[in-house]
Amino acid sequence: MNVNILAIESSCDETSASIISNGKILNNIVATQSVHEKYGGVVPELASRAHQQHLIPVVQEAISSSGMAKSELNAIAVTLGPGLMGSLMVGVSFAKSLAYSLGIPLIGVNHMEAHIMAHFIDEPKPSFPFICLTVSGGHTQLVLVKSHLEMEVIGETMDDAVGEAFDKTAKLLGLPYPGGPLIDKHAQLGNPLAYKFPISDMPGLTFSFSGIKTAILYFLRDQIKENPNFIEEHINDICASVQYTLIQTLMQKLKKAAKEYQIKEIAIAGGVSANSGLRRELEVLAEKLKWKTYIPKFEYCTDNAAMIAMAAHYKYQQSEFLGLDASPEARM
Ligand code: KG4
Ligand code: ZN
Repeated sequence: MNVNILAIESSCDETSASIISNGKILNNIVATQSVHEKYGGVVPELASRAHQQHLIPVVQEAISSSGMAKSELNAIAVTLGPGLMGSLMVGVSFAKSLAYSLGIPLIGVNHMEAHIMAHFIDEPKPSFPFICLTVSGGHTQLVLVKSHLEMEVIGETMDDAVGEAFDKTAKLLGLPYPGGPLIDKHAQLGNPLAYKFPISDMPGLTFSFSGIKTAILYFLRDQIKENPNFIEEHINDICASVQYTLIQTLMQKLKKAAKEYQIKEIAIAGGVSANSGLRRELEVLAEKLKWKTYIPKFEYCTDNAAMIAMAAHYKYQQSEFLGLDASPEARM
């Protein structure tokens, strides 16, 4: 029997739908919300409204481009959390209604687990157990992945996420949201050793990114006092130096985790895994430490429903279904 699942993602500021058929992703439709650009961050109320506006057109496009009828769907999957409550509500309410009206099961997916499951969309796939550095706008985690359904967080941030550090630095530099990709772009033209910022040294596998954020703030304030045009004149070097520091902080802990758990299968996932400097540094370490590394395709780094569909495929096989009274969980 064919198993066709429609997956929906609405946890933050991307509205996305994807159809997976017998474990193969057929499409991945994403509507990005540009409304947040000028605010320097996601405005929850505006995100919920935009999801509510985009969701049905995005789902319609996923269904029609799959060549399938709604009646051929076997389950509806949706991100249950973590994320913005109002945004999650839109996706979960819609997914429940659709599952109810079609008389098919509902599957709830953890957004962070799904970022990791993006590695099972295409070849080469990591083998178990592997370590995944999951880096997004809301999370920075080291995850020990034991199977498709079994994962253990072995390290995480005690304050800001690394994506947040990228976005907040961008805001200080007057760049629009999301600033991560723009810092990446400027960094490619700058000198990573031009300015020195502190690399946090937390115990064990714990990350911290609030110190560097404050260091950048004071650094810019002092430089602007001397030269009001400092940012415009040195933006490439500033971005390259900040990015270098953030990547070194991540890599220090990743190396520590790999050594501690004696694992050489290493993956990265989440929005920040799109960063060109991080991808390059991982290749360098792979060569040096004989790691086998897994880097997702760009379209599966930032938020998308294909990764939700992939996670749902494994849950369907285990009949891990939700009741129709399920609620989203902002902190999962
Ligand atoms: O996974 P994601 O799309 O959403 C969350 O689950 O949070 O990650 C979004 C984050 C944002 O902080 C964004 O600035 C960052 O990923 N990001 C990047 C790059 N592309 C996206 N950060 C650095 N370099 C990039 N190229
Ligand atoms: Zn995400």
